[in-house]
Amino acid sequence: MFPKWFSKWNRDNPTNIYGPAIAFGVVGSAVFAATILVAWGQPFSTDSLQTGPRGAGMSVPEFEADLAKADPSIAGFLASTSDPVVPQGGEQTAGRARDNVPPGLEDLTVENYDRLLAAMREWTGIPDLFDDPESYQTSVGHVMIGMTRTINEGWDIHVNANKEVGVTCYTCHRGEPVPSDVWFKTGPVTASTEGWSSNQNRVTMQSQYTSLPSDALEKYLLDGERIGVHDLESRVAGVPGEDGYPGIQQAERTYALMNYVSNSLGVNCVFCHNTRAFYDGSQVTPQWATESLGIQMVLELNNDYLVPLQSMYPEDRLGPVHEDAPKLACKTCHKGYQQPLQGTNVIEDWPELATSDAPDYGN
Ligand code: HEC
Ligand code: HEC
Ligand code: HEC
Repeated sequence: MFPKWFSKWNRDNPTNIYGPAIAFGVVGSAVFAATILVAWGQPFSTDSLQTGPRGAGMSVPEFEADLAKADPSIAGFLASTSDPVVPQGGEQTAGRARDNVPPGLEDLTVENYDRLLAAMREWTGIPDLFDDPESYQTSVGHVMIGMTRTINEGWDIHVNANKEVGVTCYTCHRGEPVPSDVWFKTGPVTASTEGWSSNQNRVTMQSQYTSLPSDALEKYLLDGERIGVHDLESRVAGVPGEDGYPGIQQAERTYALMNYVSNSLGVNCVFCHNTRAFYDGSQVTPQWATESLGIQMVLELNNDYLVPLQSMYPEDRLGPVHEDAPKLACKTCHKGYQQPLQGTNVIEDWPELATSDAPDYGN
């Protein structure tokens, strides 16, 4: 295809073009990459939150790009919130002026009731919530108002741990009737399916898609079993799982729970523990205590509020294995963030949901 004289000239004058080409390519790419880095900045730079004493390696690293990004749900909340109307005295109450007012809201002024009702409908994505007294959504909604108030009042120590944050229906529901990250029991149904394999090696959200046991949420956040497995005793005198020593499966179940917790908050283990001593309550961070309270809160919410609703739900809301009521845990509120909605104060505009007493409008 080349003229003859060219092929001949080429044969007579052999030149190594590959060496210089590679050298040129390498230097060229390096200069290009360096120019991009200088011009645009390091895209994978991290920032870390130090959680323990210096030298202990206790830090939670995150990409700066992620830290700068706001949780997209915050905008949804801000769009649905409005300032309370401070009562001047003498207003009509919702109980007199409106129909089907949920118990506990009758004494609100009509203006504040209307505004709360509109917000609750947006937060749960149920446009006619509380219109039909026969609907199961109405009965469940009544319980939910009480539960939300209990969380803000009784578990103030968790949901306002660092500063006022609180919860509203939106914290869990985010505009959907069924909140994300609810869970159901997965344990064995009959004696014949009981045993090791039925709890482990199954692809479930409850085990965070690991081979760890799938019943961690059930055992620890519903049945209230003891979580601790680690101490400095030797196991020589007895067999794990017997003789009063925690078994190996219990240790694995603890890790399943801890994986779930870490993923729910988007943190790693040293956010709460000094990992050289998981058992030692004197080496933990303040967040460990907030989590302990969170565990107690979730136990109460599941057992006192959500489990008793079972008979009210239609079949399609119940669990696939045990037909149990949907339950909540850390991720139902946190959704992968250290603080739900990145610590946005959601309760300040909704004193009606902050307490079961008369709301404090600051007047
Ligand atoms: C701490 C989390 C949480 C909060 C806060 C919360 N809910 Fe719920 N809610 C749930 C869970 C979990 C369910 C069960 C999901 C299901 O119905 O399948 C639920 C179910 C419901 C349902 C039934 C929906 C359906 O179609 O099955 C209604 C109605 C409801 N909530 C209303 C409210 C209202 C109103 C508020 C605020 C006053 C509220 N919720 C606050 C967690 C929460
Ligand atoms: C948000 C805080 C938090 C995070 C994150 C966390 N833990 Fe925990 N962990 C706790 C609390 C609180 C307890 C004690 C629970 C109890 O006994 O009631 C605990 C208990 C444990 C125990 C049992 C300790 C004992 O006394 O036997 C182990 C083991 C453990 N965690 C491991 C981990 C691992 C591994 C990770 C990371 C995958 C992790 N934890 C992440 C808070 C946390
Ligand atoms: C009802 C909603 C809800 C549930 C359920 C919940 N939390 Fe929280 N949690 C919050 C709110 C709101 C805050 C923010 C408090 C603040 O920063 O003032 C918070 C804060 C925390 C903090 C402190 C974070 C920090 O930056 O100091 C930890 C740790 C935590 N939660 C762990 C848990 C764990 C573990 C669970 C499950 C066992 C859990 N939470 C369940 C609402 C919830």
